[in-house]
Amino acid sequence: MVSSPSFKDFALTDFLLQIITWRHNLPKFFEDITGLKPRPFQEEFFREVQELKTKNIVIVAGRGIGKTLALATVALWYVLVLAIAENRPFKVVILAGSLKQAKICFNYIMDVINHTPFLQRHLAKEPTQEEILFKDGSWIRPLPASEKSIRGHHPDLLIIDEAAEVEDSIIYAALPMTAPSPYARHIFSTTPSLTGSSWIEDKWDHQHEPQYAPPQWKFFNWNAESILPPDQVELLKHMLPADAYATEIQGLPYRREGKVFRLEDLKECTKIDPKEIEKEEIGEVYAGIDWGYYPAPTVLVIVKRVEDKWRVLYSEAFLAENFEEMHRKIKLICESYNVVNIFTDSTDKGENLRLAAEGLPVTPVSFKAEKPIMISNLRMLIERHKLKIDPMTQQRLIDQLMNYTYDSKRNDDFVDALMLAVRANPIASHAPFDLEAFLSELVVKKRSTHSEEDRKSQIGKILKEMGRM
Ligand SMILES: Nc1ncnc2c1ncn2[C@@H]1O[C@H](COP(=O)(O)OP(=O)(O)OP(=O)(O)O)[C@@H](O)[C@H]1O
Ligand SMILES: [Mg+2]
Repeated sequence: MVSSPSFKDFALTDFLLQIITWRHNLPKFFEDITGLKPRPFQEEFFREVQELKTKNIVIVAGRGIGKTLALATVALWYVLVLAIAENRPFKVVILAGSLKQAKICFNYIMDVINHTPFLQRHLAKEPTQEEILFKDGSWIRPLPASEKSIRGHHPDLLIIDEAAEVEDSIIYAALPMTAPSPYARHIFSTTPSLTGSSWIEDKWDHQHEPQYAPPQWKFFNWNAESILPPDQVELLKHMLPADAYATEIQGLPYRREGKVFRLEDLKECTKIDPKEIEKEEIGEVYAGIDWGYYPAPTVLVIVKRVEDKWRVLYSEAFLAENFEEMHRKIKLICESYNVVNIFTDSTDKGENLRLAAEGLPVTPVSFKAEKPIMISNLRMLIERHKLKIDPMTQQRLIDQLMNYTYDSKRNDDFVDALMLAVRANPIASHAPFDLEAFLSELVVKKRSTHSEEDRKSQIGKILKEMGRM
């Protein structure tokens, strides 16, 4: 009988037994609340969490492979399992790189709560986007990463999701939040950024130094190669630029030392077949302008696109010239080539306005925000030999390309103007393609009864949509 005291006792014992099991088996907790089997790297991370030994845990991971769901699970495990097992309330803050990320995490938590009656009974009040409060005083607060939002909270566990997107100043402001707790702990998770220069990536780079040794720090890499079938790994390697593959699939910060463009690729790009040029009358012509101040020149590069192939038509450096004269020349050159769009460095508003006032189609681009993706875009065109550069007329551009490094500050004007000129290439002008959708598609296909053929044609479809085939 449900109402009999003995059954009640039994139910309570049963519940406590369940809590004790979960206390020492977080992977099982994940499985029970999500209905999913933890991936091997998630399991390894959960086992580290349940030990309660490491103060700082860092996960660098591929995109869309289960970071946020794992973090949401840990948050729930703290407030439900650990709180009962340790007989004290636990407080968890989840900071996310963006409001969108914070909402994804909140929705994962709410999904679990909505499907789990004992968690609902444990709630003290209706959850809001800012706080999920439990009867014993435990709470989870999913917050966007801003100085304002983190003030006044004192969690035991601070989780920072997509930490590479969080500014250093916010991380430094957030870390002391946990100071009053005897259980103080931080978990950072991220897909590496394209610049490779965030706070979290710096920690990853220095992980072998003594101050980052256990039990203070522990580092994990979640690599999608470990869960994808080999044929798909090959496909992804083929279709993504090397830096995007390293960060988004392998989840590894991309090494940025040395030259950006390989000599053998540049050589291929300078092999010009005259027959190809004859064929390519129809195409769009774009220009890129990198404004310069003496002693740096202003550089104009003009390119032509025919389907997915690009060719440099013209480049010129203007040094210490009267600006009116320079604008007059730029206008004449762009008009003679029928340029449809001129991408310019947006920092110099005055120059851009003057050029637009001449009736030219100017699109200012924020170099600060877009440079990593523009470098990646130009790299991809060069790696795939989709950009042709005539060695007879473009010697300065080729010289600069050969010597270009990620932190080039000088002699880079031709390369900067070129990356602006080819910005209309799909990888740069559209949002980065949705790898998470791609991966979840693969997981669904793997689980379902669809044949291998279906799976391959699905990949083909995605590649086509991306314009990469
Ligand atoms: N162990 C698992 N088995 C199957 N599916 C999983 C597993 N873990 C997570 N997923 C699913 O994978 C998808 C992405 O998960 P999640 O949002 O946690 O990934 P993420 O790494 O945070 O992604 P992003 O890089 O976009 O932030 C979700 O649909 C989630 O349910
Ligand atoms: Mg996520």
